[in-house]
Amino acid sequence: MTKFEAVTNYNNFYEFSTDKGAVAPLSKNFVTEPWTVQVGGLVSNPKTYSIDDLLKFGEEERIYRLRCVEAWAMVIPWLGFPLNKLLKEVEPTSEAKYVRFETLYDPKQMPGQNSGFYSWPYVEGLRVDEAMNDLTILSTGLYGKRLYPQNGAPIRLVVPWKYGFKSIKSIVRIDLVADMPTSLWMAAAPHEYGFYANVNPNVDHPRWSQASERVIGETGRRNTLLFNGYEEEVAYLYEGMDLSAWY
Ligand code: MTE
Repeated sequence: MTKFEAVTNYNNFYEFSTDKGAVAPLSKNFVTEPWTVQVGGLVSNPKTYSIDDLLKFGEEERIYRLRCVEAWAMVIPWLGFPLNKLLKEVEPTSEAKYVRFETLYDPKQMPGQNSGFYSWPYVEGLRVDEAMNDLTILSTGLYGKRLYPQNGAPIRLVVPWKYGFKSIKSIVRIDLVADMPTSLWMAAAPHEYGFYANVNPNVDHPRWSQASERVIGETGRRNTLLFNGYEEEVAYLYEGMDLSAWY
């Protein structure tokens, strides 16, 4: 496992800063209580959850590899629950094909959102079957503690077989939708970041190789694993799809 110090001090959270070391100090006073997550769209039972409501889904430990698209990696012991527990409760209708997630928009607290370079709020999406896979969790903690702001407090997504940018932080809205959502990264650089973003050593980023990765805390590099090592659990989701397509 990656040291707690590294997990909580080397962060990508552009709402606070593009400097990984600046995120922890800048997010120190981020207000995460009270907090609600509104779940709606194409569902039979729309519902607004408090964090206490979400904690009732349980907290199990999941030790997952996290692979950033920038070619560094960590191993993190998350606490959380499968997203499918929440989705079953709100009952997606048959028209729902995708899940769209949104981060809080609050430029007063999140200085990075004053930059016009990105289309805030941060948005991410999954296909409904990807969202229902047991590996997909909503995380409320790591290393046995509640999440710190820099890791996406009070609740964030973790999708271990996809590049880290899919694992959206500090979620306030989850909507079931019919059409593929446009994520912040798809809008910012459509030639570089696609919707699927499955970890794949054979498909390079247009500006760098994805064949190997730097594991934080280790010297040297490791080979990148297809689906970040979770091929057995998730390859069925992409049967018939061309995995050599970079997106
Ligand atoms: N979520 C939001 N809202 N904003 C971000 O900038 N960065 C992503 C992802 N989730 C990001 C985000 C990226 S690129 C990565 S690699 C992971 O968060 C990093 O998670 P960590 O800092 O907890 O390791």
